[in-house]
Amino acid sequence: MGFKNIVVVGAAGMLGQELVTHLRGKGYQVFPTTSETLNLLVTEEEMKEKLEPFQPEVVIQCAAFTNVDACERDPDMAMAINKDGTNKLGLASQHLGAIFAYISTDYVFDGLKSEPYLPGDRPNPINTYGLSKYYGELLTSEQLEAYYVIRTSWLFGIHRNNFVQWVMDQARQGKEVKAAEDWVGTPTWTGNLAVAIETIINSGQYGVHHAADAGAISRYEQALHICRMAGLPTDSIRRVHSSELGLPANRPQYTPLACPDLAVPSWETGFQAYLSQYQQQTRVL
Ligand SMILES: NC(=O)c1ccc[n+]([C@@H]2O[C@H](COP(=O)([O-])OP(=O)(O)OC[C@H]3O[C@@H](n4cnc5c(N)ncnc54)[C@H](OP(=O)(O)O)[C@@H]3O)[C@@H](O)[C@H]2O)c1
Repeated sequence: MGFKNIVVVGAAGMLGQELVTHLRGKGYQVFPTTSETLNLLVTEEEMKEKLEPFQPEVVIQCAAFTNVDACERDPDMAMAINKDGTNKLGLASQHLGAIFAYISTDYVFDGLKSEPYLPGDRPNPINTYGLSKYYGELLTSEQLEAYYVIRTSWLFGIHRNNFVQWVMDQARQGKEVKAAEDWVGTPTWTGNLAVAIETIINSGQYGVHHAADAGAISRYEQALHICRMAGLPTDSIRRVHSSELGLPANRPQYTPLACPDLAVPSWETGFQAYLSQYQQQTRVL
């Protein structure tokens, strides 16, 4: 470990919580910030003032406006948080001599490829969320010296609601699960992603990286798999075309990520680990 002090921005989010726990367990001095303690809508100067007392060597930017359909409805807010907020945070981090690690998304791609996307493939976002995240990437790479852009996809973890959790809740209650057969991606467990992020920020290989679990699966197949592995009935899962969902934002159809810089576990093993965490948590509650 070449550094000790890490600030995790967006630490109350699904990934942020997992990352703080993981990095603390590995002995780093971690300073979590939330939208209350470091909001991405404040000025770069205010961000510097908030960050300075932590003497950060690395700043990991997990905060984002992540609701894809809400971003479509409010593009100004999407840009203010995901593009401008990331940019100000990156510049403030650089000013303080910290390495900046920006968590980005498979949604920067248009989904028209027929094999997994590589870090060097050309982004071409097709919705506002993807565009705002891509601008965050561009400004990071154009303006910073020491940075990592870490793209990931289809996250699930115990700290917040997500597709996996929703499918299990719906299936348990016998409620319909409409799952698109034409969206294919790589589900990624936040526990595996936290390990991958630690590896990447220690690599010294600045630039764009992919960090996702291994595999490619449609939302429909994923929903079936989740229920089978969790011992839940599958009869309420309905195979649909995404157009039937009537969502405001378009989604790229095919966005599995190839991760040439990492040895990644399969998403199924991530799901098993998630499931035992989830079952332990629900037993305690
Ligand atoms: N979820 C996925 O499937 C997925 C896939 C690919 C990439 N990613 C990327 O992975 C990262 C983490 O995602 P996640 O799923 O963990 O997100 P999340 O659970 O939605 O958490 C995002 C966090 O960002 C914070 N935030 C929102 N607006 C903010 C603002 N103006 N100032 C400061 N903080 C603000 C939120 O704070 P509050 O708690 O106060 O609202 C929240 O804690 C994001 O960069 C996302 O783009 C996610």
